Amino acid sequence: MNVLLIGSGGREHAIAWKISQSPKLDALYLLPGNPGMAKFGPTVDMDVNDIDGIVEFAKKSNIDFVIVGPEDPLDNGLVDACEAAGIKAFGPNKAAAQLEADKAFAKKIMKENSIPTAEARIFDNFNDAKAYIASRDEAVVVKAAGLAKGKGVYVCDEPSDAILAAEKIMCDNLFGEAGAQVVVEEKLIGEEASILAFVDGKSIYVMESSQDHKPIGEGDKGANTGGMGAYSPAPVVTDKLMEQITKEVLVPTVDGMKRNGTPFKGILYAGIMVTQAGPRVLEFNVRFGDPETQPILMRLKSDLLEVMLATSEGRLDSVELEWDERPAVCVVLSSEGYPGDYEKGREITGISDANAIEDVVVFHAGTSIKDTKLVNAGGRVLGVTALGDDVAAAKEKAYKAVEKINFDGVYYRRDIADKAINR
Ligand code: AMP
Ligand code: GLY
Repeated sequence: MNVLLIGSGGREHAIAWKISQSPKLDALYLLPGNPGMAKFGPTVDMDVNDIDGIVEFAKKSNIDFVIVGPEDPLDNGLVDACEAAGIKAFGPNKAAAQLEADKAFAKKIMKENSIPTAEARIFDNFNDAKAYIASRDEAVVVKAAGLAKGKGVYVCDEPSDAILAAEKIMCDNLFGEAGAQVVVEEKLIGEEASILAFVDGKSIYVMESSQDHKPIGEGDKGANTGGMGAYSPAPVVTDKLMEQITKEVLVPTVDGMKRNGTPFKGILYAGIMVTQAGPRVLEFNVRFGDPETQPILMRLKSDLLEVMLATSEGRLDSVELEWDERPAVCVVLSSEGYPGDYEKGREITGISDANAIEDVVVFHAGTSIKDTKLVNAGGRVLGVTALGDDVAAAKEKAYKAVEKINFDGVYYRRDIADKAINR
């Protein structure tokens, strides 16, 4: 079959790498793809949010299945548009994508279905948000309600910082329309885990657990990023906890979305804080996580394309997922300055040496070709991912590969997976 994959990050490189191993695949088109993905098929130079353009391209190129990687095109109705044109697509429709695109909607679904999450209030006016924050004397978290590339969340220990955050979001419009509303919620304490599941509208198939490293600095210090590294599985998620998360979070969310008239199909990603009182939802995403996908897919032995097709055709109960027992660790190499401004166009060397190490795959994210040279072109540049016999071995191998790669201003955290190792 002919597949069109939408997106250009490390997540999409990992999806392309995995589905290109499928016997079901005839041709894979990458829209827009990146230099690392180009070996899997033709790249299509088009914006991921050009919904009409994408549908037209898919029709013209006899695409049988469109796989949507990032959240923006889902929120812009790409799946709806593909299905209206008679083309199968992987991911939720626009109405169901609100679970990620609108944190106020997500809180409503959680409240109606008694899904454990942080106590929250939603404001569409800065003065009300300010008055509320000032009336509380404990730490709070302030979030832009819309899509902000993982950067719209401020964890504030002081009310004065929280007021500043609300001001940046609502008055300085740091995230544009995404900040028209803010969510102010209690700060939860615990360890985080990412739980991803395939959902076909009725059945749920939970994947292996993983853990992201959102802050830019070692020891989880500093500004939030899209994710600086990840590993799978996350030992904090015991079998018992996974069962609890499935029962208390995933099942009621899928049921609640159906009852709400917005049935969910695609990947349901629950960002969980494991608190002393049990698991609490931090956020929902409606697609694969980035970088969690890189270690998760390194461990998946089954045919991803078949699983995605089964999900979109509502026959998830007909597939079985098989996993490599070995853990995987992904270290993100970023451009110095990220998540703020950074220099682009710096030559990257050493990727083939890194890829030559057994059980290592270097996934491209923000790279491009300039004058025949590979250069950095984004905040998160590469995701160096390795399998090992245990987490410590996977970490060691990933960093050995990282050391082979160089570009001016390369930055990475050196403590990815330490939480699992020190457990
Ligand atoms: P989100 O995009 O909503 O998952 O938030 C990004 C990151 O901010 C999370 O991965 C957490 O590290 C942190 N965070 C979000 N909400 C809370 C909360 N209520 N308490 C503590 N940390 C939070
Ligand atoms: N790694 C977090 C996310 O994909 O949203």
